[in-house]
Amino acid sequence: MKHIPLVLLLLCACSGGDPTPTGTVCPDPDPMTLTYDNFGREFMTKYCTWCHDSSLPRSKRNGAPLYHDFDTLLGVLQVPDHIDEETGIGPDATNRFMPPDRCPSELGGVANTNCAKPTDEERKQLAEWIACERNRPHNFNVDAGVDAP
Ligand code: HEC
Repeated sequence: MKHIPLVLLLLCACSGGDPTPTGTVCPDPDPMTLTYDNFGREFMTKYCTWCHDSSLPRSKRNGAPLYHDFDTLLGVLQVPDHIDEETGIGPDATNRFMPPDRCPSELGGVANTNCAKPTDEERKQLAEWIACERNRPHNFNVDAGVDAP
């Protein structure tokens, strides 16, 4: 019995802590190295939208919360801190909470296969892309420009 606390301690150490902001800062000036078109969209499609997709109703998301939809840039920029804290690597934290271990092999299916996992280098790039992208000018208005005076 006296070994149980030690076992619990080790389990906690292995789980890698809690989601933590990576502290990643976009270089100034923004180098524009990582963009939605050359990085973000593909990252999200490869690793995240299996569950975090706006086309998926609650029952087909394998538990992913509603309003965390990463199939558009707008969706990503609605929760940039959460993404950084779950998936990014930077000076202050290494977050490998997402994706989880089991994924659907087709959109909306049951989790029947191992999730593809980003490399640590990709996680660093994700944190930098998010840090930069959130400060860039965006206009998500559907008729932007059309009705503008
Ligand atoms: C197999 C389905 C699945 C995939 C793939 C997946 N997630 Fe999740 N995600 C979940 C589930 C389930 C939760 C809720 C439980 C949890 O937070 O661990 C969640 C929660 C989250 C949250 C919300 C945490 C909060 O603050 O409430 C974020 C942010 C997130 N995921 C980001 C991502 C990112 C980024 C990716 C891709 C790298 C990803 N997820 C891939 C299932 C998934």
